Amino acid sequence: MNFQYIQILFIYLLLICKRIYNSKFLPCDEKDKKVLLMFKYGVIDPFGVLSSWSAKQNCCQWPGMLCENTTGKVTGLNLTCPRIYPVYGNDNKLHCLSGELNVSYFSLKLGNNDFSIIHYHGQGENSSNNLHHLDLSYNDNLKADHMLHWISNLSSLQYLDLTGINLQEKTNWLQLVTLLPSLSQLYLRHCGLWDIYPSLQYANFTALEVLDLSNNDFFPDKLPNWIFNFSCRIAALILSENSLQGQLPRTFPHFQSLESLLLDQNALSGSIPNWVGQLEKLNKLDSLPLLNILNSRIPLEPSEKFWKFISNQVGNLVMYNSSINGSISNVLFNSKVLMLNSNNFRGNVPRISPNVTLLDLSNNSLSGSISHFLCGQTKEKNNLKYLDLSHNVLSGEIPNCWIHWKSLEYINLEGNNFRGQIPYSISNLSNLVSFSLFNNRLSGEVPVSLKNCKKLRILNLGENKFSGAISNWVGQNIIAF
Ligand SMILES: *[C@@H]1O[C@H](CO)[C@@H](O)[C@H](O)[C@H]1NC(C)=O
Ligand SMILES: *[C@@H]1O[C@H](CO)[C@@H](O)[C@H](O)[C@H]1NC(C)=O
Ligand SMILES: *[C@@H]1O[C@H](CO)[C@@H](O)[C@H](O)[C@H]1NC(C)=O
Ligand SMILES: *[C@@H]1O[C@H](CO)[C@@H](O)[C@H](O)[C@H]1NC(C)=O
Ligand SMILES: *[C@@H]1O[C@H](CO)[C@@H](O)[C@H](O)[C@H]1NC(C)=O
Ligand SMILES: *[C@@H]1O[C@H](CO)[C@@H](O)[C@H](O)[C@H]1NC(C)=O
Ligand SMILES: *[C@@H]1O[C@H](CO)[C@@H](O)[C@H](O)[C@H]1NC(C)=O
Ligand SMILES: *[C@@H]1O[C@H](CO)[C@@H](O)[C@H](O)[C@H]1NC(C)=O
Ligand SMILES: *[C@@H]1O[C@H](CO)[C@@H](O)[C@H](O)[C@H]1NC(C)=O
Ligand SMILES: *[C@@H]1O[C@H](CO)[C@@H](O)[C@H](O)[C@H]1NC(C)=O
Ligand SMILES: *[C@@H]1O[C@H](CO)[C@@H](O)[C@H](O)[C@H]1NC(C)=O
Ligand SMILES: *[C@@H]1O[C@H](CO)[C@@H](O)[C@H](O)[C@H]1NC(C)=O
Repeated sequence: MNFQYIQILFIYLLLICKRIYNSKFLPCDEKDKKVLLMFKYGVIDPFGVLSSWSAKQNCCQWPGMLCENTTGKVTGLNLTCPRIYPVYGNDNKLHCLSGELNVSYFSLKLGNNDFSIIHYHGQGENSSNNLHHLDLSYNDNLKADHMLHWISNLSSLQYLDLTGINLQEKTNWLQLVTLLPSLSQLYLRHCGLWDIYPSLQYANFTALEVLDLSNNDFFPDKLPNWIFNFSCRIAALILSENSLQGQLPRTFPHFQSLESLLLDQNALSGSIPNWVGQLEKLNKLDSLPLLNILNSRIPLEPSEKFWKFISNQVGNLVMYNSSINGSISNVLFNSKVLMLNSNNFRGNVPRISPNVTLLDLSNNSLSGSISHFLCGQTKEKNNLKYLDLSHNVLSGEIPNCWIHWKSLEYINLEGNNFRGQIPYSISNLSNLVSFSLFNNRLSGEVPVSLKNCKKLRILNLGENKFSGAISNWVGQNIIAF
């Protein structure tokens, strides 16, 4: 069989796994069960995510169900569609739910699916008082106007995530949600709220602790002053990626609890006002959570001192697409998250400490073999989950050292010059979900032991020189294209 141009999508029916449940579970409410079974047949579910919702079983034991433990009443749904790629925009949603929903419940976690319309009807007397948690993030095709009338009435709502949903229509969404009295976390990233500044007359949040308005490209691009004038409880204020211009206000803002203030990828000018240093919780050395320099468009060659600072104090380094150059062969990374993709980094793949969980160095100019990186550390337990080295000029064989990297869930080595065979130790990666070797010069047979990677969903071996037949271990849930 020829493996050229073949991508194999290995659908792992995550939600089907039988679980052993505590026998203390109360049987679920029969009425709830009926409604849920109807709900199930209304949803478009091509890969049977809900296939284990069977009429015979206690519905409180169905995957995704949240029940009141004393009455067996269903209180919420968690049908979040698991992400395969941690970076937004790159995901494929073949394994997610779509269609139209009509639900009640108190807690709805529906993120990353592809629903088009959601109706909400409350239960009981104070029907709009019930819902407290609503996550519809990344349902990119959701029709926002259908939700307006019910969301604006949710007086108990504490958590609202509409990330990635287009809210551009006539209505001023932000103004509307400022009136929700219980709201404590509001995520409106990438919602097309460009006209926020002129139209927002008052910001009346009383309970707000987290506000994310990043990536909305406000126009006019002035820093909205009301932002610095509300709730003293605010802990995180995220205004990244908005092309905002101007200065931070000189006067002390009302908030004292601020822990994170993210203003990256704007065009702010002037100096950083003194109050930033006076915020008690912000910027403590041990809690500098994020250094965010992406898309800075300033060519920069970081010094050794800079990398030392990063290793010692920055937990999450987000520095992609920024024309940053220089060799990183001798750097030892220690931050939890390292997004360094799409720069001009040269040299070998650097070493990382066990503290690193995500390393994205894709789309740079890294070269040479990865055996030093992969086989060099054997003593401490690695915690790396996500490794992306795609689109570099890496070469040599893929070393047989994966046994040291058992926490890996995602490996992308696409678009390099790797030669030789797939090493057998890949089969020791029992957490692996996605593995791509697309477009290299690999050859030989695909090891049958790959079937030991029980969680594998995506396996991309295209554009290589593999030989032999792929065994039947891949099972029935495969799409090849
Ligand atoms: C029910 O859940 C509550 C909190 O959710 C917990 O405190 C309580 O112990 C649980 N009761 C039983 C019987 O499991
Ligand atoms: C909701 O479901 C997702 C995906 O199955 C899971 O990762 C997450 O932990 C769940 N969240 C809760 C609160 O149960
Ligand atoms: C949603 O379901 C409720 C109760 O099951 C029903 O009263 C209501 O009319 C439904 N709404 C829509 C838009 O289907
Ligand atoms: C409904 O809301 C009113 C006023 O907020 C409150 O007095 C009443 O107890 C609530 N009823 C129920 C069943 O929660
Ligand atoms: C929202 O609440 C108002 C006032 O309580 C009520 O008049 C209106 O019918 C509610 N709208 C919906 C869609 O529940
Ligand atoms: C804003 O909040 C204050 C105090 O909580 C309240 O008096 C005022 O009416 C609110 N404004 C609007 C427009 O709801
Ligand atoms: C900030 O709040 C003060 C008093 O609460 C008010 O006088 C002022 O107009 C507000 N500024 C802005 C920009 O909203
Ligand atoms: C890296 O960028 C710096 C700053 O622009 C520049 O001086 C240097 O020549 C660049 N180095 C390479 C190898 O491109
Ligand atoms: C990277 O930066 C360029 C401009 O320097 C921009 O056009 C492009 O959209 C950016 N890509 C991403 C993924 O941010
Ligand atoms: C690769 O990086 C360059 C900048 O170095 C960027 O313009 C380009 O969009 C990136 N390509 C991908 C696929 O991210
Ligand atoms: C990992 O991080 C902790 C605290 O952030 C630090 O004490 C430890 O030395 C780090 N481990 C390594 C191997 O650098
Ligand atoms: C690694 O995988 C091989 C082949 O699947 C197996 O024989 C071996 O026992 C595994 N080793 C560990 C440490 O899991």
